[in-house]
Amino acid sequence: MSKPAAALVMLLALVAAGPAAGDGGSTRLGCFVGWSPLKTVSSLLCLLQGSSTFPSPKPAPTGQGLSVGYYNKSGSCPKAEQLVREAVTSATNGANRGLNAGLIRLHFHDAFVRGCDASVLLDKTASNNTDTEKTGPPNKDSLRGFEVIDAAKAAVEKECPGIVSCADILAFAARDASYILSNEKIYYEVPAGRYDGRESFADETDQLPGPGSSVQDLKKSFAAQGLSLADAVTLSGAHSIGLARCLFFKDRLSAMDPGYAATLNATCNAGGDSYKVNQDYKSPDVLDNQYYKNIDKFVLFASDAALKSSETIDQVNANAGGYGKWEKDFGDAMVKMGKIGVITSPGYGAEIRKVCSQINY
Ligand code: HEM
Repeated sequence: MSKPAAALVMLLALVAAGPAAGDGGSTRLGCFVGWSPLKTVSSLLCLLQGSSTFPSPKPAPTGQGLSVGYYNKSGSCPKAEQLVREAVTSATNGANRGLNAGLIRLHFHDAFVRGCDASVLLDKTASNNTDTEKTGPPNKDSLRGFEVIDAAKAAVEKECPGIVSCADILAFAARDASYILSNEKIYYEVPAGRYDGRESFADETDQLPGPGSSVQDLKKSFAAQGLSLADAVTLSGAHSIGLARCLFFKDRLSAMDPGYAATLNATCNAGGDSYKVNQDYKSPDVLDNQYYKNIDKFVLFASDAALKSSETIDQVNANAGGYGKWEKDFGDAMVKMGKIGVITSPGYGAEIRKVCSQINY
């Protein structure tokens, strides 16, 4: 099959994996920017659907209504953060250390779609649809760590039922995962007080930037959430951990270091499109600034290599050379991301779920 045809087939498969399964969900096909190896193909599909790419820029999220130590202050569940930390630590012990990467990504994928409302965790919604975010193209067969969040929620519910939201648990778990993977170099306080939402739609995962994104795509997708291009550069450092499937980078091996590309080529030929490789060839299990040293010949995605652009290269170089600066910036950016679209009072469409994968009935 020719390259454009293969790209079209892949994009259609990705899109079809999203909204098709629903019973009562939204009908719009998402416009997935940067998820096709060929930008022209995805742009064409977006045009055909009459969709724009990302919504207009928003002001930076204020997180009004959230506070550090939220569950201590109200006296409602003082052990909440400790219980989440224990659940994360025990679930990601030894050989399961890599699961921490999944927890960090879960928080990002929650934040960028309907804000931090744990919509990414739902299997079925108030609209009765099952084509939830989990089944959206960027998430299906990719997100991991749901069982860790479930274990944390179970522990917290046992201690203080109906008090701690799944959205807060996600934010705490991502913080704890960052602490573990950075070998305790990244630590930040998490303002809490989020409520959980009751809706989730696969097509809305088109708000997530794809691996083929250009700097302009990244700028637009982050601006649509009230985040800056500098935040995108800082948060992309999370690609110094975790895994990526061959299908997202196999078409750009020629842009990489030849020796590295040859190894990846052999691995992907043997394993196939769904085979997963480490994102950081040097220190794959450590959340550190190695990502910036890998740009641009040793990173996997076009969206990673795009950060060598004139708009972002100074920040990349500063992160690659600095000691401790990126780690501090990363914590700050995670806090900012955790403020996107939060619901901070109960009411229609907002609740504290009993089980993170289900709305309360
Ligand atoms: C800047 C735009 C971004 C793009 C285009 C992007 C894209 C991707 C893609 C395509 C994968 C591999 C998925 C697969 O093969 O199944 C991935 C993995 C990952 N991403 Fe991103 N990402 C971006 C930003 C972020 C941010 C902001 C974070 C967190 C703060 C993040 C954290 C991760 C992690 C930890 C993994 C590995 C997950 C695992 O091993 O389970 N990414 N990303």
